[in-house]
Amino acid sequence: MNFIQYEQKDAVAVLTISREKALNALNSEVLTEMESTIDAIDLETVRCLIITGAGQKSFVAGADIGEMSTLSKADGEAFGKKGNDVFRKIETLPIPVIAAVNGFALGGGCELSMSCDIRLAAENAVFGQPETGLGITPGFGGTQRLARLIPVGKAKEMIYAGTKIKADEALALGLVNAVYSSEELLPAAEKLAGKIARNAPIAVRACKKAVNDGLEASMDEALVIEEKLFGSCFETEDQINGMKAFLAKEKPAPFVN
Ligand code: CAA
Repeated sequence: MNFIQYEQKDAVAVLTISREKALNALNSEVLTEMESTIDAIDLETVRCLIITGAGQKSFVAGADIGEMSTLSKADGEAFGKKGNDVFRKIETLPIPVIAAVNGFALGGGCELSMSCDIRLAAENAVFGQPETGLGITPGFGGTQRLARLIPVGKAKEMIYAGTKIKADEALALGLVNAVYSSEELLPAAEKLAGKIARNAPIAVRACKKAVNDGLEASMDEALVIEEKLFGSCFETEDQINGMKAFLAKEKPAPFVN
């Protein structure tokens, strides 16, 4: 791998996009490496994934403008599909994914963060979809996910005018859950990931699926999705262990599956 570092510590893995000279911009090679890294995650042992960028200046400064500058219409569409496929894989990964946004999250970087379940930001984070200033639309899901995550009028302003927002505004809009100093960001992400990883894995995965699939369905359909996933947790070792421990006023044994 030239541009992706991947490290697993206990049940938490950290995927770092490492192309610092170009502020971690996403070219085809980075996207391909990201996809194969995600495909290779050991879902038997990893219970939460963190995605971040190398260095303290940039999470991801977007898709690679040099690579895009000479694309034909057909190649542009194919490049959009490549990014969308990788980001959808992240969004639908069975385990939770936390974006630790350590600086610029522009264009494809903002889009990558939005394909994650939870965003934590460093104080120097900047979010934006500056694509109209380059003569294109957002291409890796920005028009869809930003409009679903923050008020639609604000999303449209950011997309049409290219208005960038800093970490404090992203926090006020609910685009990020919390803001930390650059030094504290990764430890905070690891702490949250550890907390998630200590909960019952089947239940956590079912929660992710219920929220994601439910958001794409009507309320009636969504509640059926939840009922089925709720039911699927019963008779698991973790459900028996968790409830038995509660009733005995004891701490549950570590959750296993
Ligand atoms: N693609 C390719 N290279 C990039 C890049 C990108 N998106 N962003 C930064 N770089 C490169 C710069 O070209 C520069 O390279 P050189 O040193 O070889 O000149 C290096 O990274 C450092 O960047 P700057 O010198 O520009 O750093 P800065 O601190 O002055 O500015 C910045 C930082 C404001 C993030 C600025 O780099 C910038 O505006 N980058 C582009 C942001 C952008 O428009 N992103 C959207 C891309 S389009 C997209 O993502 C489409 C999509 O939805 C799929």
